[in-house]
Amino acid sequence: MNSSLSGLHNPVMLDEVICYLRIQTGGRYVDCTAGAAGHSEAILKASSPGGQLLGFEADPQAVAIASQRLEPFGSAALLVNRNFASLEDECLARKYFPVHGILFDLGLSSIQLGETGRGFSFQFDAPLDMRFSPEQQMTVADILNSCTETEIANIIYKYGEEPASRRIARSIVANRPVNTTFELAALVEKALGGRRGRIHPATRTFQALRIAVNRELENLETALRQALNLLGYGGRLVVISYHSLEDRIVKRVLQEESRDCLCLPGAPVCTCAHKASIRLINRKIITPSPEEISRNPRSRSARMRVAERVIAPSDTRLSSAGLFFISLTGCLAGAAGVFSLN
Ligand SMILES: C[S@@+](CC[C@H](N)C(=O)[O-])C[C@H]1O[C@@H](n2cnc3c(N)ncnc32)[C@H](O)[C@@H]1O
Repeated sequence: MNSSLSGLHNPVMLDEVICYLRIQTGGRYVDCTAGAAGHSEAILKASSPGGQLLGFEADPQAVAIASQRLEPFGSAALLVNRNFASLEDECLARKYFPVHGILFDLGLSSIQLGETGRGFSFQFDAPLDMRFSPEQQMTVADILNSCTETEIANIIYKYGEEPASRRIARSIVANRPVNTTFELAALVEKALGGRRGRIHPATRTFQALRIAVNRELENLETALRQALNLLGYGGRLVVISYHSLEDRIVKRVLQEESRDCLCLPGAPVCTCAHKASIRLINRKIITPSPEEISRNPRSRSARMRVAERVIAPSDTRLSSAGLFFISLTGCLAGAAGVFSLN
């Protein structure tokens, strides 16, 4: 493989991912964010012989890198250049379920951040694109040059938690067209009255626009719920997020799905009939060790949450193809305290 590219992205909390996924030989796994395939490769090694991995990756350039890296695993590894929002459709179409473990390592890779022409970073002058996939129609430049001032302010506030979002949006609209990273970074810096401290004033604005253009939070919530349904009894979900907006969604979805009733507090009787489908493995968030942070400073914001499926999947789409089988093995596995699908 192209070692110079793979070397640019260190898989975050690699040992923890393998440990919390409870990788077993011959297991069936999904990596929803294959990237440079560092985690995928480790999962395949740990599950060998007989392990299988289905990898999702929206960015075709990352798929090319990951494919090269996973070539030695032959047909045990399958990469699809799809958004993880299509997780359930892809797995059902390929009869790839129930699975033993699913990983999300969210956000973007160091490779993407270091690519000079994609617009992810204000370190390089480039067109304001920021799409993970070229199949998406809208770029960040399209948003900035076509949305109203209020819409832009709302994006920057909601996805960047930027208190000065209105001032920034006003400056963007007054200076349209805004087409490049340097133009945007300079506008934001001026709107905020220059630099203070180590963090560039445009950091939150860039994060907000990337999240918006890729619909990152909407796709995350959709895919998390699908993922929980694809797990077999005892299957594990591991999610690594890098900012509070992502982590809040992960926390809320996992907490909801680990509760037996979602009725409002104080309701005299339960009317929702919701049943917990998972248990939370870590109450306290898992973070990288100080050694990892000093080796790979980009890992410092990583937050890991882990859940385990405690009932058989109930989706009717799954049931026609394999639920009976899953239920049976789920019950048996439950009784024996093990996870067995084959
Ligand atoms: C932090 S990197 C993953 C790095 C990877 N774990 C590794 O070890 O190399 C996140 C990757 O997820 C991809 N990604 C982000 N959102 C996605 C989505 N909705 N669907 C598919 N891929 C996505 C990005 O393109 C990026 O390559």
